[in-house]
Amino acid sequence: MPRAAVPRHVVTALRRASTARPPTRVPRAEPAKAIDPSQPIGPASSAADPSAFARARALPWALSSLVGAGLGFYCLQLYMAASKPCRNPAIAELAQQTDVAERYDYTAAAFDSEVGFSELLMGVNGLRKKLSQKCTGHVLEVSCGTGRNLGYYDIGKEGQVDSLTFVDLSPQMVEVCRKKWAALFGSQKEMSRLKQTLQVRFMTGSALDSMPLAPTGRKYDTIIQTMGLCSTPSPAALLTNMVQHLDTSNPQARILLLEHGRSYMPWVNNILDNSAQKHAEIHGCWYNRDIGALVEEAARQTGLEVVNERRHHFGTTWVFELKPKAETVQREAAATAVAGELVGKETESGGWLSKLGWS
Ligand SMILES: C[S@@+](CC[C@H](N)C(=O)[O-])C[C@H]1O[C@@H](n2cnc3c(N)ncnc32)[C@H](O)[C@@H]1O
Repeated sequence: MPRAAVPRHVVTALRRASTARPPTRVPRAEPAKAIDPSQPIGPASSAADPSAFARARALPWALSSLVGAGLGFYCLQLYMAASKPCRNPAIAELAQQTDVAERYDYTAAAFDSEVGFSELLMGVNGLRKKLSQKCTGHVLEVSCGTGRNLGYYDIGKEGQVDSLTFVDLSPQMVEVCRKKWAALFGSQKEMSRLKQTLQVRFMTGSALDSMPLAPTGRKYDTIIQTMGLCSTPSPAALLTNMVQHLDTSNPQARILLLEHGRSYMPWVNNILDNSAQKHAEIHGCWYNRDIGALVEEAARQTGLEVVNERRHHFGTTWVFELKPKAETVQREAAATAVAGELVGKETESGGWLSKLGWS
């Protein structure tokens, strides 16, 4: 019997159908869940107690809110102080500023802890270090206070400092300074690191009066003062007296100052003037003085020139380096030999130092 002819494409279709796998069932995708913003995110929190995460977040939030509120309050106070008109604008004049220097007799013990943190924050220690390291030869530190510069002098074996004389009006401040020196350099180990010929003296007395000469019987190569012009009733006289103790016949002689006073910004000066009286009574320092004007006038009158001047912290911190002008050096060099002879005689007799009450 003849085979019925089946069209070729039907045969192919039948073969494919017999070898094809049954269709796989693809599970239907779950509809995406909407994100609930009130739910904490993260494996731990969702798995564990969600309130634990909320509690963990509460502390940083509370702390940052507290800091923010504190800062806001501080800025508000600052704004109010800056915009408050000054009740006594004349308080910036020296004639209005009472003598508050004796406050240091009472604050000596706490002085370092009172100023330490703010000086650290403001980078004042770096300024002290930079300035102290410029001292060379026989050095006089005037208004030395508790000796906040002690650790910065170049007094190592090869150091450039030959002697250090510390002077302050307050015996209590000098005592803290002396003890600090002993704590820093008093041990055998530390002493062995110092220049063997280094001489160190601590003295109580006013830098407005005659001060002892250097151990050589001559004037000093460097006179340094940090934060001292604010504390004396006569800053101009103090500057002039410093120059009188400087060996101005030496072109390398220097007066180095780190001071604080008026700013170049009116709103800062407004704050300073408004609070100056109270600050002076508590801390013994008038922080609203025009230090630049005082130093420039003293330099002009004593034959010195400013070789370096820097201001920091809105201009309230002043750094000065002064040296004798060339003509001053020449004039003084001629007079030095005669003066040296006179000083030698005084030192031999031991006369005027004891009469002046220097100890
Ligand atoms: C603000 S304290 C500065 C102390 C230190 N120089 C410092 O940088 O921390 C001012 C110091 O000047 C001293 N002082 C005030 N009038 C003085 C004077 N006429 N002679 C010497 N020291 C004086 C005070 O006793 C006080 O120790």
